[in-house]
Amino acid sequence: MSTTRTITAFAPGRVNLIGDHTDYAGGLALPMAIDLGTTIRGRAIDEPVVRMRSADQPGSAEVPIDVDDPTTVAPDWARYVAGVVAELHPARGFDGDVTTTIPIGSGLSSSAALELAVALVLGFDGPRQALARLGQRAEQRASGVPCGLMDQLASAVGVEDHALLMDFRTGSVEPVPLPSGVDVVVVHSGQHRALATSAYADRRAACEQAAAIVGPLRDVTLDAIAAIDDPVVRRRARHVLTENQRVREFAAALAANDLATAGRLMVESHASLRDEFEVSTPALDALVDRLVATPGVHGARLTGAGFGGCVVALTDPGVLDEGWTVRPSGGARLLDH
Ligand code: GLA
Repeated sequence: MSTTRTITAFAPGRVNLIGDHTDYAGGLALPMAIDLGTTIRGRAIDEPVVRMRSADQPGSAEVPIDVDDPTTVAPDWARYVAGVVAELHPARGFDGDVTTTIPIGSGLSSSAALELAVALVLGFDGPRQALARLGQRAEQRASGVPCGLMDQLASAVGVEDHALLMDFRTGSVEPVPLPSGVDVVVVHSGQHRALATSAYADRRAACEQAAAIVGPLRDVTLDAIAAIDDPVVRRRARHVLTENQRVREFAAALAANDLATAGRLMVESHASLRDEFEVSTPALDALVDRLVATPGVHGARLTGAGFGGCVVALTDPGVLDEGWTVRPSGGARLLDH
């Protein structure tokens, strides 16, 4: 009988209020950690394996502590566990149970929450930024998607009652109070989001191509990107530039409790993701249109990578009778130790 103590870790999902497809381009975003999250409870074991069962996903994870290639691991969710194990090289095995309140594969970062909770139960003990970067590397190895840092950083550094103004050039995070008297509501489009690996990589590559021509997108003006000949690459760059500016204006609008302006910026962000960055879908567009036509809704937009998944809306309290009303919450943490 093992006498090692029980370890419990919790990591939240996130919703991004504004600033999508900017993180990997050294831009700005304003997500918040949410009060939906993933909990892992278990014990270190003297076998060279990380074993986890999930209450919400089929099968169980059985990952050798010396795993090298997470993509060889089944079932799918176990790859994220394997990604963390491959990054962390734990000295001991672990046996635990995973539960989550995050709708899986909806764009609310269920995988980032899983990665961070796994890292904490396996003994990661460094700064929050390092935890986020470890989770990002694990995600990239597990999924093959060259994701940015936003999801894992939001889950790592969440602050109760605050959204998080992130600057991916400097690495800084500034908590921005969410005004009282406003609801953040996440509504699923009904379209399951397969994080379209190739489409995401393609968008990221276009931003890198643009930066190779005009310089870091964070520093250039809209006039400068006219020098980009390829009209698709030019549109992708224009989204990043205008989205960075919308994030700045949105943060100022929240600080001034100007919800009308904040809502308008969300709608403009959606239009840019739809028309310039081309990561929306007809189901997401129809949902945004319906929500913004509802009295008491200030604005709505797709949230996260796009290609399906969820829309986020900023509303007067209680006006939407659907989806999940989420609160900004604290970041990933050990619950007892
Ligand atoms: C996914 C990625 C993030 C970010 C968003 C789009 O969630 O994991 O890094 O790029 O898409 O903003």
